Amino acid sequence: MISNRFSAAAETYDRHARPQLALAQSVVSMLPGLYPEKILELGSGTGQLTRLVVEHFPKAPLDAVDLSEKMVEYSRARFQESPQINWIVDDAQTFWGGDRYPLIVSSSALHWVTDLRATFENIYQCLEPSGTFALGMMLQGTLKELHELRTSIAPEKTPSITLPIFEEVVACIQDAGFKKKRQMHSEEAILYDDAKAFLKAIHEQGVTGGKVSAGNAPLSRTELSQLVVDYQENYATSGGVSASYETATFLLTKS
Ligand SMILES: C[S@@+](CC[C@H](N)C(=O)[O-])C[C@H]1O[C@@H](n2cnc3c(N)ncnc32)[C@H](O)[C@@H]1O
Repeated sequence: MISNRFSAAAETYDRHARPQLALAQSVVSMLPGLYPEKILELGSGTGQLTRLVVEHFPKAPLDAVDLSEKMVEYSRARFQESPQINWIVDDAQTFWGGDRYPLIVSSSALHWVTDLRATFENIYQCLEPSGTFALGMMLQGTLKELHELRTSIAPEKTPSITLPIFEEVVACIQDAGFKKKRQMHSEEAILYDDAKAFLKAIHEQGVTGGKVSAGNAPLSRTELSQLVVDYQENYATSGGVSASYETATFLLTKS
């Protein structure tokens, strides 16, 4: 289950979540001059985006929703100095807070939902008519090197489902009724010291068992050693080994 995987990673996530922090920063940098009375964050995790949003809007009450109970517990304890945050365990796909929000934000989370279309339709319902939805998502090119190597080493253990492609996200956004005010789409290579450090980092982000890179079943010791050797051989550069992250950010409104 996705919530179990992230619960296990709650305490190690931030140390290795550089690409996710960069995406959260890009979501906040897209926000226009707004004075929201209340904010909803979906997939708040350890609070990387939450922290930036609270710095941006220190007075606004914020409902932070995450599917993982442990992530919510961890963040509630960590953000004790921010009583305006209401931490909630719930599913972004079906969450309804009882009232609409003028601002909804999410980063590095919605690519995990099982039904992206239903999730965007739900978010549309949660947004006030004049509201804004600022979104950052990881896309299919993320960790594509690792996915390819896994497929060659253990094809039966590699899932056919992968992260959404840009066009699919855009179609779901439009079909839900959102209007795009801004969008950015990028692919970046992130460097890690070596293949072992890279695999440790993504394990500690909670993504190794997920659809990004991973598995219907864990790799055996031999397969894992092969993966380390092949990754080092194929993706080493002068500064370490590289891994791709494909992301998109959107600023959306209802009208
Ligand atoms: C990679 S973390 C990102 C967290 C944070 N927003 C950040 O920018 O670092 C993804 C989070 O999404 C949560 N998540 C996954 N599916 C979800 C869903 N359907 N509803 C709510 N949260 C979900 C996970 O539990 C995890 O905490």
